[in-house]
Amino acid sequence: MRIAPFETEHFYAQYEFSTPHQLCNSDCESVSVAQLLTLSGQTPTDLGRLVLGYTESQGNPELRAAIARQYDTVTADEIVVLGSPVEGIYLAACAILEPGDEVVVLTPAYDALINLFEHITGKGNVKRWQFDANETAWTLDLDDLLELISPRTKLVVVNFPHNPTGYLPTAQMQQNLAQIIETNGLQLFCDEMYSGLVHSGTPAIPSAADASDTAIVLSGLSKTYGLPGLRCGWLVVRNEELRANIMNWKFYTSICPPAPTEFLSLAAMDVLGTLRDRNITRIEQNLELSTAFFERWPGLFEWRPPLAGSTALVGYKVPSVSAVAATLAEEAGVLIHPAVTLGSDDQHMRMGFGREAFGDALDRFERWLNGRRQ
Ligand SMILES: Cc1ncc(COP(=O)(O)O)c(C=O)c1O
Repeated sequence: MRIAPFETEHFYAQYEFSTPHQLCNSDCESVSVAQLLTLSGQTPTDLGRLVLGYTESQGNPELRAAIARQYDTVTADEIVVLGSPVEGIYLAACAILEPGDEVVVLTPAYDALINLFEHITGKGNVKRWQFDANETAWTLDLDDLLELISPRTKLVVVNFPHNPTGYLPTAQMQQNLAQIIETNGLQLFCDEMYSGLVHSGTPAIPSAADASDTAIVLSGLSKTYGLPGLRCGWLVVRNEELRANIMNWKFYTSICPPAPTEFLSLAAMDVLGTLRDRNITRIEQNLELSTAFFERWPGLFEWRPPLAGSTALVGYKVPSVSAVAATLAEEAGVLIHPAVTLGSDDQHMRMGFGREAFGDALDRFERWLNGRRQ
């Protein structure tokens, strides 16, 4: 059986480990195992004592309790620890949907949020709820969503903070969305992989898991906390029957979380605030550099600063960002991400601000641009 190409992951598989200077990563700066252990007051000996047996399939109870404490109203029983964050999208799609159901997905989006739902429901059954733009910001209109809902619609898929635009709704908008979901008897899948990355000046909103009894939430340690190599992700699923169905699917995909992941994730849970705050500081510094950069290139880029998250969607007035990205990687070793892989057009790039070496990569990009101007 075939599935649409996962364009974003194909792109990173080609470039991520061969292009030294990167401007587009969605994950924040990472730490070593030794740094994580030291930060959380543990030692390599503690890690060494870990026995590599099977683990509890729904996730280590202590880890689930620590995850539940990140929410106001969620219990440890309502958490399913995954084999990886992206697995949660597949499990939810399999457990919630049947062929012929319709799904509305906020677009552009991380490919899995479109392609996996389309894989289960069938071609044409995923409707795109598109962002609009004004001069300075990305905007979302709930009336556009209402127009996409049909009697066959079962699920609405959103991602807040949003990759790639950096959009975060207001609390009022979040409530209005929950109201639409409830009135139309739908289910909401909210991808909160970037949760907690809220920039100064942006009002924070609750998790969809706390704002609604029925929302299914995906989250994990990859982005906000800079630990993508841990592959730690979880779903919050309030409905017992749906949770049981998700667990049944999970027995076919990963059975139980890896023991080292659970050990190190538990260590990380003690220091989440420290890891997140460092990354917010780094993102804000890199956003300042970016704002200054875009002021120097007003005719070439359209800059809509993100409200939250680690990424932004930036207009780049060239015939093909994909072509520029390939040339730039080859000539200057600098990586930009053509947002066409995320369902945008080929005149946009995704930028990522969570990495330490961002400023150096931006300087190199600018030198390359200046070199082309002559
Ligand atoms: C919105 C969103 N959801 C899910 C994922 C998957 O996370 P992971 O790569 O840690 O499995 C990503 C990764 O880029 C993402 O951007």
